[in-house]
Amino acid sequence: MHPAPPRPLPALLAAMPKAELHIHIEGSLEPELMFRLAQRNGVRLPYASVEDLRKAYAFSNLQSFLDIYYAGASVLVKEEDFYDMAWAYLQRARHDNVLRAEIFFDPQTHTARGVAMETVIGGLYRACQDAHNLGLDAELILCFLRHLSEEDAFDTLEQALPFRDRFIGVGLDSSEVGHPPEKFARVFARCRQLGLHLVAHAGEEGPPEYVWSALDVLKVERVDHGVQSAKDPALMKRLAQDRIPLTVCPLSNLKLRVVPTLEQHNLRALLDAGLVATVNSDDPAYFGGYINANFLQTFAATGLDVRHAYLLARNSFEASFAEPSAKQRYIERLDVEFNTA
Ligand code: ADE
Ligand code: ZN
Repeated sequence: MHPAPPRPLPALLAAMPKAELHIHIEGSLEPELMFRLAQRNGVRLPYASVEDLRKAYAFSNLQSFLDIYYAGASVLVKEEDFYDMAWAYLQRARHDNVLRAEIFFDPQTHTARGVAMETVIGGLYRACQDAHNLGLDAELILCFLRHLSEEDAFDTLEQALPFRDRFIGVGLDSSEVGHPPEKFARVFARCRQLGLHLVAHAGEEGPPEYVWSALDVLKVERVDHGVQSAKDPALMKRLAQDRIPLTVCPLSNLKLRVVPTLEQHNLRALLDAGLVATVNSDDPAYFGGYINANFLQTFAATGLDVRHAYLLARNSFEASFAEPSAKQRYIERLDVEFNTA
């Protein structure tokens, strides 16, 4: 027997088993499917064609993206729309060798238009169940929109509780600056009592103080983005010591101008500081790439190597909310891929 020849890094990045922990399902809605659903539901889009819509995807910051992202979600009306969108993502994720996906959804974007919570969760959950046939474990995380009130978040939680067994946690997303985590202290405390996992976007555009607040007030188990933490050495120490994972989204950070170039992304610095950083796609239909594109382009731009690849994939499983036995299974498969088993 000869040992397997070493694989080129891009092939290894694509083939390695991984978990995706930061993907907004509404951000996986590709323009082609958006137009198909618009036609199916008789919804008018303010764009003449797929090409026209893609041309609008030139963002200057988070808000300029969110305005288009919420408008795009208006084509989602029926249970099968939510199913079709999620199923399209899950197939792409499986192709990228994602073994586990923890998927965000924004119910308020839909319930505010009169779509029932049952319709939203029903379609998404059915796709997650069907993903088991692809060899992919998929779970849902309900996100509250932080530009809305805490009262609205409480209402949303109430509407979702009949489906408590269909989502594993809650998150916090949308416009960050001006909407600090502590605005949602009470609703997160309630979710904690209910045994839900807790995550929040913090330190995407907002300051390190928002990351502190997510940790100390909301008591989150993971921080989504968190890249601004690097501005605060004491915060970096805290994140490393408590092994609080960051779900980093490099192509998102590039497209929303959080970083000027991918070469200047601080992923390597986060890993060097001992943080449990992971790589994710955020809103892949809008930011030009799914999870493997994020890995490939970031590694090419920053010169990360095979050891970083292993560490990032391992971190993704460790940072997931999977059962310990499932985590062990995922990591065994990772070790086989890297010939370290
Ligand atoms: N909703 C979808 N994508 C988001 C992001 N990158 N930041 C905040 N909210 C979001
Ligand atoms: Zn996000």
